[in-house]
Amino acid sequence: MKICVLPGDGIGPEIMAEAVRVLEALELGFEMEEALIGGGAVDATGTPYPEATSRLAKAADAVLLGAVGGPKWDTLPREQRPERGLLAIRKELGLFANLRPAILYPELANASSLKPEVVAGLDILIVRELTGDIYFGQPRGVEERGGERYGFNTMHYTESEIRRIGRVAFEAARKRGKRLCSVDKMNVLETTQLWRDVMTELAPEYPDVELSHMLVDNAAMQLVRAPKQFDVMVTGNMFGDILSDEASMLTGSIGMLPSASLDENNKGLYEPSHGSAPDIAGKGVANPLATILSVAMMLRYTFGREEAALRVEGAVKKVLAQGYRTGDIFEPGTSRVGTRQMGDAVLAAL
Ligand code: IPM
Ligand code: MG
Repeated sequence: MKICVLPGDGIGPEIMAEAVRVLEALELGFEMEEALIGGGAVDATGTPYPEATSRLAKAADAVLLGAVGGPKWDTLPREQRPERGLLAIRKELGLFANLRPAILYPELANASSLKPEVVAGLDILIVRELTGDIYFGQPRGVEERGGERYGFNTMHYTESEIRRIGRVAFEAARKRGKRLCSVDKMNVLETTQLWRDVMTELAPEYPDVELSHMLVDNAAMQLVRAPKQFDVMVTGNMFGDILSDEASMLTGSIGMLPSASLDENNKGLYEPSHGSAPDIAGKGVANPLATILSVAMMLRYTFGREEAALRVEGAVKKVLAQGYRTGDIFEPGTSRVGTRQMGDAVLAAL
């Protein structure tokens, strides 16, 4: 059982160190190997997703990733930006199914910007398609046309792409609250009319799941108005990017949320939902819990070790109950700790 570890940029190495300690403490016999991705990879090799990293990632059963990017690389040509490394590994490994849970831990109810009664008990799963849509569509670019600059991108989906993410979402809903909301913009965009049609065609195969549809602008509004109406949401790559950030903030801190990106055989890339947070990088104050919870998702989805996953999640709940808080979730009356101390607390709870 081989894990490719990609700490990446910014706070990536700090939070990854804690996740790796948790993995080691579980003593499950995983083999871990580290490689470069993102800005650090650009500095060392000239490309954000070097050949050696690609080889390691392909050979591993799972990839654990910290975060990529930072202001230092923002002015590089597009192909050399750290984000390109992330898009490349998703595409190359065929990681089409991105699972982004947004769970509100009762201890953190005050961290949300919404009223506690609106978010108490919140537990949403966003299933985002990750290897298609306008993110990868051709043609794309910025050109000179008719004497001015012209920018263009292409939104597209094949029905088989929609069907396979639809199945992941229906299956996920089946294991949870049995409600699936498919999000599209069918009133304007043909591609997303096809999306709605294919989801509707799949529904009879999952009679135990209640399928509904919602336009993306309304979904964005409903997420802040009454988020608990949702159980599982499924949507395309771009809408999913936006809605998952919105959903994550309902829980108060994006620093708590893990994610999984899976291929058809449950090989997966696991990463916190947050970014590289260059403003606090190297200070030892970042919240490692999203990365630690990503380890739990990896144990569950790729390795089928449900018990170990629950142990890790239980340890995280315990440290929250004990009052340990990194700066992003700190409130008066709790104990403020740094990245390493939070890792220590999780290890002790384990
Ligand atoms: C995410 C990020 C990425 C995306 C960026 C960094 C390319 O925002 O994982 O949500 O847009 O998919
Ligand atoms: Mg995003």
